[in-house]
Amino acid sequence: MILVTCDTHCYYDTINQQLAYAENELGHAISCIIHLGDFGLYKSHLHDFFIKKGQRFMRPLYCIDGNHEDFNALEKLTKKYQAFFTYLPRGTVHRIEGYRFLALGGAAYMDSMLTEQGAIITDHQINACLAFARAEVDIILTHDCPTGIGVPSTPGLDHFGATGFPRSQELAAHFQPKLWLFGHHHKWFSCSDGHTAYYGLEGAWKGFGLLDDDFRLTIIKHRLEWEKTPFIEKLLAKLKIIRPDGPRELSD
Ligand SMILES: [Fe+2]
Repeated sequence: MILVTCDTHCYYDTINQQLAYAENELGHAISCIIHLGDFGLYKSHLHDFFIKKGQRFMRPLYCIDGNHEDFNALEKLTKKYQAFFTYLPRGTVHRIEGYRFLALGGAAYMDSMLTEQGAIITDHQINACLAFARAEVDIILTHDCPTGIGVPSTPGLDHFGATGFPRSQELAAHFQPKLWLFGHHHKWFSCSDGHTAYYGLEGAWKGFGLLDDDFRLTIIKHRLEWEKTPFIEKLLAKLKIIRPDGPRELSD
């Protein structure tokens, strides 16, 4: 069973807490973890967790990028910490536990205050995905959702228009995967278009998905207690001096 999670926003320990719940309380054997972005690829937080505190994930973890990562340092950081987790670059396919996963991190443009340039999915990356044949991909992993499947926008962000990233429907039509998993919107979501079952996940502190070996994803709602972000940390995040706000304050 693969544990699927997303949007930890640097609170990496939530992953181990949810994994322990899945194994010890629910009795599922978890082979690995797939993270759908907004992992929190920030130098100071990675150093604090892996080096200073010596923490490790209890199972191999594979992640795509979201829109809240340090894109200037992404390549360097994912290489430095590759012994502790594996980054799946945009437009690449990876065989994990028997499935072929197409990875496409990033998100649609919202506005210049909320969207770093590096977050935006480019035409080049979409084309790299489309260069794979339909038969080479089982499951699509994205951070943002596809357009046109009805993921509601978040109150306060609806003026940015309909949810989803451009050209996502080209991927849906080309691959018609059995499953498409995404995060970013901090909402539980599921629908099917006849070919593809789409699942959107809440942030890691609200639960996770369990993917079996027959394309079935089960949503487990399990809320973790959360330490309130100190005011000074919120201020520094707003000024982009440290990582973005904790999940309770985030809407994407
Ligand atoms: Fe996001």
